[in-house]
Amino acid sequence: MSVQVDAAFAGRRVLVTGGAGFVGGGLVRRLVSAGAEVTVLDDLFTGLVETIPPGARFVRGSVTDAALVRDLVAQSSLVFHMAARNIIASTKNPRDDFETNIGGTLNVLLAARETRPDRVVYTSSTSVYGNPRSIPINEEDGVVPLSPYAVSKLAGEHYCLAFYESYGLPVGVVRYSNVYGLGQRPDNPYCGVVSKFFASAASSGVVSVHGDGEQTRDFTYVDDAVDATLLAAVHPRAEGEVFNVGTGIEISVNALALLIGRALGKEITVEHIDRRDVDNIRRRVVNIEKIRRMLRWSPQVTLEDGLARTAAWLAQASLVEPVRERVPRRSDG
Ligand SMILES: NC(=O)c1ccc[n+]([C@@H]2O[C@H](COP(=O)([O-])OP(=O)(O)OC[C@H]3O[C@@H](n4cnc5c(N)ncnc54)[C@H](O)[C@@H]3O)[C@@H](O)[C@H]2O)c1
Repeated sequence: MSVQVDAAFAGRRVLVTGGAGFVGGGLVRRLVSAGAEVTVLDDLFTGLVETIPPGARFVRGSVTDAALVRDLVAQSSLVFHMAARNIIASTKNPRDDFETNIGGTLNVLLAARETRPDRVVYTSSTSVYGNPRSIPINEEDGVVPLSPYAVSKLAGEHYCLAFYESYGLPVGVVRYSNVYGLGQRPDNPYCGVVSKFFASAASSGVVSVHGDGEQTRDFTYVDDAVDATLLAAVHPRAEGEVFNVGTGIEISVNALALLIGRALGKEITVEHIDRRDVDNIRRRVVNIEKIRRMLRWSPQVTLEDGLARTAAWLAQASLVEPVRERVPRRSDG
């Protein structure tokens, strides 16, 4: 993305809730290197302190703490609100999901209504669409939340837009589609499918796919998601808008497994197991024309390239076994 956009963050006081997490960590690294003064608010539910780069301030606490959120929002001119209970945790404990994903968002917005930062960016999810009637999915297509997580992410969006309409609060909303890449740790029990497949492919060569594996998703490399999120914070046309963030390319889970084998340089076997009980969506791919047209954003990293970068990072961080394919010796006959 252009240096101009990064320059817009130099010297700004920025709050990132959930900044110790996967995507939040990537965003915080970018903001710090752009010269922003970053504060991370995170309760370390899934996040790790090590994710936060030197140069950012870390406050351990929850977005459910209204007084703490108010203090931190008051010190910031930009707020990225990314803290959330994930889909698996939400499905297990919908009340906890409600308190963080809806209550926490309301705390951020109430604080922002009072202290008036220049923008609040909310990271939503394409899970709000449920099983779409047609693909690729447009932002204005029907939303059918099928999990407590999808309900709470959609409620967060609706609150953002209601605060925009009712109180003139400048908000921008991005709906991420399956983000993967550097920073997504397979030792996080809630990590996404890409990380899970990398870990099992590297250790055993076997990848367990739920159902027939012909369910599809649209996978977004983390740097692309971060670029879109930064634009949503500073682009004048992002105000009051909701944007899909994906690639527009539909990939089956079976095809993903094979590409991960290729990224590791390893033959893998796909085994089919029971249908998944969360996020059981048959097809999902988003239309990204709106963000392309309005914010001039487009994904820069292909799936093959993103998986290669992910494989290199996982090996370098010793999160998966480095793959050493056996090279036949002459004496092997
Ligand atoms: N990764 C994806 O594919 C994806 C897709 C759609 C939407 N999103 C959204 O993007 C955001 C970031 O997701 P991620 O993949 O980095 O997940 P993540 O779990 O790695 O990050 C979420 C962070 O929020 C923190 N957190 C959770 N509850 C909190 C609370 N009550 N108070 C403070 N911090 C809390 C966690 O400790 C973690 O560091 C989330 O809002 C998520 O809903 C992610």
